[in-house]
Amino acid sequence: MSLKLSKFATSLTGDSGTTSLMQDLGEALAADRNYLMLGGGNPGSIPPVQSALREELAKLANDPERFNAMVGPYDSPQGDHQFLSAIASLLRDECGWDVGPENCMLTNGSQAGFFLLFNALAGEFDDGSRKLIELPLTPEYLGYADVGLDNSPLFRSRRPKIETVDSHTIKYRVDFDNMTLGEDSAAICVSRPTNPTGNMISDDEVRELQRIARAGGVPLIIDGAYGQPFPGIVFNDATALFDDNTIVFLSLSKLGLAGIRTGIIVGPAELIAGLSSMNAITNLAPGSAGPGLMLDLVRSRKILNLSREHVQPYYRDRADFAVDVLANAMGDTPWKIHQPEGAFFLWTTFPDIPLHSQKLYERIKDRGALVIAGHHFFAGLEHDPWQHKTECLRITYAQDKDDVRKGIEIVADEVKRAYDGA
Ligand SMILES: Cc1ncc(COP(=O)(O)O)c(C=O)c1O
Repeated sequence: MSLKLSKFATSLTGDSGTTSLMQDLGEALAADRNYLMLGGGNPGSIPPVQSALREELAKLANDPERFNAMVGPYDSPQGDHQFLSAIASLLRDECGWDVGPENCMLTNGSQAGFFLLFNALAGEFDDGSRKLIELPLTPEYLGYADVGLDNSPLFRSRRPKIETVDSHTIKYRVDFDNMTLGEDSAAICVSRPTNPTGNMISDDEVRELQRIARAGGVPLIIDGAYGQPFPGIVFNDATALFDDNTIVFLSLSKLGLAGIRTGIIVGPAELIAGLSSMNAITNLAPGSAGPGLMLDLVRSRKILNLSREHVQPYYRDRADFAVDVLANAMGDTPWKIHQPEGAFFLWTTFPDIPLHSQKLYERIKDRGALVIAGHHFFAGLEHDPWQHKTECLRITYAQDKDDVRKGIEIVADEVKRAYDGA
């Protein structure tokens, strides 16, 4: 059968970083070979979190009324109201945000929420004009890159300022000299902590972005998939900031529930109402397994205890471990990392390495380890001839320590070979 595809389908089935990486991961999982998984964004399996989830599941299974309420009816397009009230109350009490349930909604994973929001704010308008999402600090989450409804650019991206922390550590900062908005700006968006770098954009930087967004009449979007208040994978004392011109994305995925697909959007009530209508058209309703499973944990605030006492320490420990292994394995070979301040990635960079990150990735994969080549994370800077874009790798340290160690040792070996011109 030869199908003629629309612009929408051509754009979503074309050559995209997200698709090729998800396929690569899927193939690796299905392959006979046991790859060391230092590539994707899968959360670790943390025993106290797992046992809290199993307890909730057992409670639901033993309560026919609650069980049916979870699996039987469709929720409203905004999502389960009890859960949204519990989330709003947690955000009010714990973070001091001025929100009610009308400011919150659910999507089938925050990725689905970004698809709705970015296309609601940016893209083509009635009068033929186009608007762009401003990314102040690139490298940025590669899942944003391909969500536009057609192939036209959806982002305006900027290089960061690069601060030297020590001989092996850098930190990206927003370059405010280059942060002016235009008539065609739709919104500013940052992930915090940032995927792929583990950067926590500082409170001051967020406040300045809030100021710029408000002055420019556009919202600031903060993607808190790894951030506060849950799963709280943040290694410094940054604050969860919000105001009436900010839209925050939260997710249950990185707590260990990526398979359940629950994203939470917090923002102005009018926007939430509009996005909920879009949710109705694309999904009828968001899934109710996430809210059903997590309702009591949110109401009791146990979700925060789990985040603080187990999730954050688990990744903090893994981050330290990964840095130690890398430092030992690299020896005298040049290497740098972004300062790990959150999430669960080590962003490594190899100055002047004479091999493109794609080739380096392929050699590492041939040796049985999966990482992600850094050039995928520069959406909007495709035409910028910046050498740094092809000198980086993202290494996930969420999984088994032994695998993380073996994987990093393979990376170090291949980086050395590349510097040696092999
Ligand atoms: C920064 C960031 N935002 C959003 C997402 C999407 O998460 P989900 O759709 O599972 O909620 C991810 C997934 O890896 C991510 O890393």
